[in-house]
Amino acid sequence: MTDEMKKFIEEIPKAELHLHIEGSFEPELMFDIAARNGVKIKYATVEELKKAYDFNNLQEFLDIYYAGAGALQTKKDFYDLTWAYLEKAHKQNVIHTEIMFDPQTHTDRGIPFAYVIEGIHDALEDAKSKYGMTYNLILSFLRHLSEEAAFKTLEEATPYKSWIKCVGLDSSEVGNPPSKFKNVYTKAREEGFMLTAHAGEEGPAEYVWEALDILGVDRIDHGNHSLDDDKLVERLANEKMTLTVCPLSNLKLKVVEDLHNHPLKTMLDKGLRATVNSDDPAYFGGYVNDNFLAVADALDLTKEDITTLAQNSIEASFIDDDLKKKYLNEIESFVAEN
Ligand code: ADE
Ligand code: ZN
Repeated sequence: MTDEMKKFIEEIPKAELHLHIEGSFEPELMFDIAARNGVKIKYATVEELKKAYDFNNLQEFLDIYYAGAGALQTKKDFYDLTWAYLEKAHKQNVIHTEIMFDPQTHTDRGIPFAYVIEGIHDALEDAKSKYGMTYNLILSFLRHLSEEAAFKTLEEATPYKSWIKCVGLDSSEVGNPPSKFKNVYTKAREEGFMLTAHAGEEGPAEYVWEALDILGVDRIDHGNHSLDDDKLVERLANEKMTLTVCPLSNLKLKVVEDLHNHPLKTMLDKGLRATVNSDDPAYFGGYVNDNFLAVADALDLTKEDITTLAQNSIEASFIDDDLKKKYLNEIESFVAEN
């Protein structure tokens, strides 16, 4: 890749729409926070921990991700975690971010919901003041748990409703289809939340259909397996449905064997509204620009492709039309000058 292309990717203004804040927990910060909380980590050193980040599938990753999140205890821990991500995102010219958090990962360990959301929210507000970075927060239900548990989580979120834009669905996909959460999504929709769900990461195209038809989602997280089904591709294109794609995650979790086989370019060629995101950057080898650089290199993406991806990230975000227009103008000015 030319230096000019690298600079273009790094500097173009962009939004990130698929980021698990618990997945941005870098080993160094994990050791610091664990030490101050007196929590024991299974690995003796940062290097040993990093060696364990070698996954054959989603579940192997999730087991380590949930164990790592166990170090987080106080509101300050959640603040520090979120702030560390926001500083990195700002440096990578992320002008708007939509962050997912998994409350059940913490409340099931006895951590109050308030500590989790208040720490995250305070950091987001500080990034808004300091960097002008805007945000939305997405509350994700863990799909390996019951729909009843998701209902309880939605209820716990009620006092903080004005801080949460959207609800999502993550964790172990295969065997936990979107339809399992039909009723809680109906309730969330009635309460005015936007809706997203992980679908078609390891699960089949059928799960993407379910997310659309049964949950009524506004976005699909991942969606790779949509390409197995031509009718679904046609539907996604016609509806301008967003796919929040995560190339390095797909590589690390063996959703794709090699980035040269990554479906991102095919998605764009088929008219799908794909975006590029980092998912769990501390575990998968990089933040949003690292994902752009790796996939652009592997698939020979052009400046036009990168511009489309940046524009898609703004168009697919849950911000109002005026702000979208402002951000799209920023991208246009950047492209005109570069
Ligand atoms: N939780 C955090 N990252 C995830 C992913 N890539 N898929 C499903 N659940 C997740
Ligand atoms: Zn994800």
